[in-house]
Amino acid sequence: MKKGLPKEQWLVNFLNKHDLTRGAELGVQKGYNFKYLVENKPNLVLHGVDIWSEKHVRWDETPSEDLQFQPDSVNSEFLNDLQEWAKDYKGRAFFHRHFTTYAHRFFNEGELDFIFIDAGHEYQDVKADIQCWYPKIKKGGYMLGHDINQVQVRKAVREQFADTWKQAKEQKIWWKQL
Ligand SMILES: C[S@@+](CC[C@H](N)C(=O)[O-])C[C@H]1O[C@@H](n2cnc3c(N)ncnc32)[C@H](O)[C@@H]1O
Repeated sequence: MKKGLPKEQWLVNFLNKHDLTRGAELGVQKGYNFKYLVENKPNLVLHGVDIWSEKHVRWDETPSEDLQFQPDSVNSEFLNDLQEWAKDYKGRAFFHRHFTTYAHRFFNEGELDFIFIDAGHEYQDVKADIQCWYPKIKKGGYMLGHDINQVQVRKAVREQFADTWKQAKEQKIWWKQL
């Protein structure tokens, strides 16, 4: 794979190389990465999961079903913009305003070709995302994630996959074929 590419270009190359067409991005925010993938890989169907809410919902036991009722904020605007943008990509871009540890239940076992983990970056977050979403990826599919340069992310990945995972250092991406 060519070196020095921005993360999102690297990802498109990776998806093309391994023929991955059905996936989920955990942690979408403004959708910078999400939009790039959908716009640059025409056969991709992508699901985005994010709370699109202030951080406190992660600690104050807000039920995932209530996230849709969060007061208007810049986060809601991100989601509104994404939904507007998605009208041009009918059937290819889906959004789930939920905790990542809740939204996995919307998917059947082995339904996804890949996931890209970029939501909560604490050790417990990454660990929980790996465990919740693992069964949703088909055998031979890929789990990828961002910010492997962060100690707590690396700890969670190592704990799950020992030394069997790979990384693209410049893009700070880790991945593992399942
Ligand atoms: C680093 S940003 C995502 C950036 C995006 N992947 C990109 O590259 O354009 C992380 C996002 O994860 C979301 N997030 C953090 N913890 C979450 C959780 N437990 N469930 C769902 N979303 C979460 C935050 O709301 C934030 O929007």
